[in-house]
Amino acid sequence: MSFLELAKNRFSERFFSDKKVEKEKLDMILEAGRIVPTACNYQPQRFFVISSDEGMAKLKTVTKFHYNVPVMILMCYDDDVVWTQPNDRLLPNYNSGDQDVSIAATTMMYEAEELGVHTIWIRGFDAKTVQEVFELPDNMIPVMMLGLGYPNENSKPNPWHFKRNELESFVKYI
Ligand SMILES: Cc1cc2nc3c(=O)[nH]c(=O)nc-3n(C[C@H](O)[C@H](O)[C@H](O)COP(=O)(O)O)c2cc1C
Repeated sequence: MSFLELAKNRFSERFFSDKKVEKEKLDMILEAGRIVPTACNYQPQRFFVISSDEGMAKLKTVTKFHYNVPVMILMCYDDDVVWTQPNDRLLPNYNSGDQDVSIAATTMMYEAEELGVHTIWIRGFDAKTVQEVFELPDNMIPVMMLGLGYPNENSKPNPWHFKRNELESFVKYI
């Protein structure tokens, strides 16, 4: 399968079965997040793998979008490590954390897809609450979560999945 076919086949999974994600597959998905490009190669991405009963119980208090996933990866950046651009005139105190983590998460998402593991990208949470509930230090900034698992019998793409604008609306040749 070409990469473009893989990318077109992916959709956000919201109906997960109880089946666990195999350790070998989880390790490959995490590896995909390790080797990504980051600003200045500072590598501020940090992955917290939530799969224990205790972790899942905490997860359910911080987001309603947990979808009973067997594994949720809380993806953060380390604010003490991330590349910064303090003099950006449009975005003062800019840092690349969101970009670095999003590249890691996207790469992991497609690695999972290739392995037959379905995914859901979650940003429906309050970052401070996540920090507090998971007892993360202040420099650990939650960016998003990546849910991983296998589909159950109700699995289907949300109608939003099929609503993609035409290429012309995104691209301008200047
Ligand atoms: C930055 C971002 C945040 C998202 N947050 C959530 C979320 O909190 N809950 C949820 O159910 N889906 C979330 N999604 C999934 C999107 O709703 C989904 O990708 C979009 O509707 C397109 O559908 P598709 O992924 O099936 O193609 C998020 C996706 C992105 C990229």
